[in-house]
Order: sequence, then structure tokens, then C-alpha cells
Amino acid sequence: MPTRSRLASLLAAALVFLTFLHLFQRPRGPSIPVLAPQDHAGNNTLGFQQILALSQRPSWRTRGLNAAANITGLEIKIPPQPPVDGRLADAFANIQGDSWDTQHPSPGASKAWLAHLDLLKHVYQSELETALIVEDDVDWDVAVRRQMMNISVAVRNLTGAPETDQSPYGINWDVLWLGHCGEQWAESIETVVFDDAHVVSHADYRGFWPDKVVLLPELKRAVYWSSSPVCTFAYAVTHGGARKILQRLGSGLGEAFDVELQHQCQIRRLTCVSVVPEVFRQYFPPAEFDVKSNVDVGNGKGDEPSDESFESAMGSTENILHSARCRALWESDCQNR
Ligand SMILES: *[C@@H]1O[C@H](CO)[C@@H](O)[C@H](O)[C@H]1NC(C)=O
Ligand SMILES: *[C@@H]1O[C@H](CO)[C@@H](O)[C@H](O)[C@H]1NC(C)=O
Ligand SMILES: *[C@@H]1O[C@H](CO)[C@@H](O)[C@H](O)[C@H]1NC(C)=O
Ligand SMILES: *[C@@H]1O[C@H](CO)[C@@H](O)[C@H](O)[C@H]1NC(C)=O
Repeated sequence: MPTRSRLASLLAAALVFLTFLHLFQRPRGPSIPVLAPQDHAGNNTLGFQQILALSQRPSWRTRGLNAAANITGLEIKIPPQPPVDGRLADAFANIQGDSWDTQHPSPGASKAWLAHLDLLKHVYQSELETALIVEDDVDWDVAVRRQMMNISVAVRNLTGAPETDQSPYGINWDVLWLGHCGEQWAESIETVVFDDAHVVSHADYRGFWPDKVVLLPELKRAVYWSSSPVCTFAYAVTHGGARKILQRLGSGLGEAFDVELQHQCQIRRLTCVSVVPEVFRQYFPPAEFDVKSNVDVGNGKGDEPSDESFESAMGSTENILHSARCRALWESDCQNR
């Protein structure tokens, strides 16, 4: 074979090979999907950089928490909680206020307050952009990852997150109050209402202010600038928010951590957004076992009954339609109370 034609056939073969290579390398489907900010809110840390649980020790609380996280595909870290010496809690609770009527936390509330501060210091020092902090007896809906995607859109809308900021919730807030015992509402508060297939009806709502919740549209969820949320079952912070809380709530001046956090939100020294009805709520073992809150135990109101005596008995969570704990532990919604 003459060299020239051999060269030609070699070139032809190379061309065919390259064409094939090109065909196979072409991306399948129309294009590589571009994720919207809300898609990240559905990831396994709900669009926050980390989810951190506040917990003193392994117990029925953390076992249920881990089971619920597993079934809903969440990654929750439980950092070891530094011990709080009784004298430190005492000193913290007795810091001198600037007026005679300054309130001070009880010993149990003082310890719980210090525990929140320790975790917020961890958030700050780890340079997390955002973190969701949950108490270890918290519960949520099995649809939480999809719920948070709609919350992301609503929070971005309320806080005017710019297009250039693609983070799931923007960063124009200090505290995103997702789990509380109740929150008030008034017509004058700028509010974004949105769909949620798993929201409790007005008739079944058991928060502190059902009379305020009925003013909001039925079977919808809302986000708005915080009015007076109570209880810190779950709240997210931005890095700047963590720093501000450490500054504003760094001394035991007030009744309790959540009450003082509410106060700082109300006077707008913290920029806070509430989700109503709440999407995180405290799970309770059956009432007959008289399980106390961590704060009450810290106040010396007796010990809890042993975990074994009630851990296998089905409890319940108010305002959560399809409880993740109940689904994980009893394949139930715990609605049959
Ligand atoms: C979830 O999304 C947030 C925000 O984009 C991100 O910081 C975080 O790392 C993501 N979590 C995981 C586990 O990928
Ligand atoms: C849930 O637990 C099972 C059994 O331990 C494990 O195989 C699975 O990977 C866990 N799933 C998640 C999302 O953590
Ligand atoms: C925010 O929501 C309101 C309705 O609640 C809607 O009219 C407006 O277009 C939304 N804005 C953005 C930026 O999504
Ligand atoms: C989120 O909003 C969309 C659009 O309004 C709605 O169809 C969907 O059911 C909502 N997601 C959940 C989990 O309810």
C-alpha cells in the first residue's frame, strides 16, 4: 500500500474515532440542571451549613432524635456539651443588672442559657455561615426537607435576598425562628404566606396564641418579622447573628435564654424571622410518665423516671402532622391521642 493512502485511511479512522468520542461526551438531557436556592434548602442539613443539637448526654431524647434524622435523611451533629459548674451558673444568674427590677434566671434556666451560649460560640469559632440549632427532644414532619424549600422561597422574599445571593435563605437576618411554643401576629406585620401540604389546621393548633394564628390563612404557613416567639426548640443563626446573640445575651440578665432572645428580636437589636405555625416542636413521652424538661430537672425538681420505663411507650408532638420520631420509632403519626 502506498504511504499516502495509508496516511489517508489512518486520518479517516482518527476522524471517525474523534466523532464518536465527541458524541459520547455530549451531556445527556437538555443541559446540566442549575439548582435554585430553594433546592439547597432540601439538602440533608436543610440548606444550613450544619445542624447542631444541644444535648447534655445520650438518652431517649438523642436516640429519638437520631432515629428521626435517619428516617428523614438529615445529618445532625451532637457536639459534646461542656460541663457547667454550679458556681458558674450561679455567678451568671447573679450578674448585677442596671436596675432594681432586673430579672435573673433560675439555676436550671441559667445552665440552659449557658449551654446555648456555648453552642453559639462553637458556631462562631467554627466560622459557620449558618447553623440550625435544635434542642435534643425536638421533632418535625417527615416532609421537612420539602417544607424547608418553600420556607426558603418565602424567607428570601420577605428579607429581599438579592439574585446575586444564591444562599437558600439569604443572609439578611440574625435568627430564623423555626421551632417555638407560639408566636403572635398582627395585620401590620409584613408577612409572606405560602403553601405547605403538611400544616396543622386552626382547630388542631395547640400553641400559646391560637387566637392570633386563626388570623392567618387556614392550611397555609407564614413567615414574618418576629413579634414574640417563645421557646427555642429550633432556631437558625447566621454567623453575624451568632456573634450578636453572644454580645446581647452574654450575661444572665433576664428570665431565660428564649425570653431574652424574644426581647432582643422585639426591640430589633436582632433581626428575627418567625415561621408560623412552627415546623419544629418538642416531642413529649406519654403524660403518665411525668418526664420533666431539662430546665426543670436542673431546678432540682426531682429526677426523671428511668428511660427504660417509658422509652418504648408512644408519646406525641403537638402541631406536627406526620411526626418523624413517631414514624421512625412506631411507624405511626402519634395522632391517636
Ligand atoms: C446544604 O446546603 C448548604 C447551603 O448551600 C451548604 O452550606 C451545606 O454544605 C449543604 N449540606 C450538605 C450536606 O451538602
Ligand atoms: C439509617 O439507618 C440505617 C440502619 O442503621 C442505615 O443503613 C442508613 O444508612 C441510615 N440512613 C441515613 C439517611 O442515615
Ligand atoms: C413576594 O411575594 C409576594 C406575594 O406574597 C409577591 O407578590 C412577590 O412577587 C414576591 N416577590 C419575590 C421577589 O418573589
Ligand atoms: C410548596 O409550594 C408548592 C407551590 O405552591 C406546593 O405545590 C407544594 O405542595 C409545597 N410543598 C409542600 C411540602 O407542601
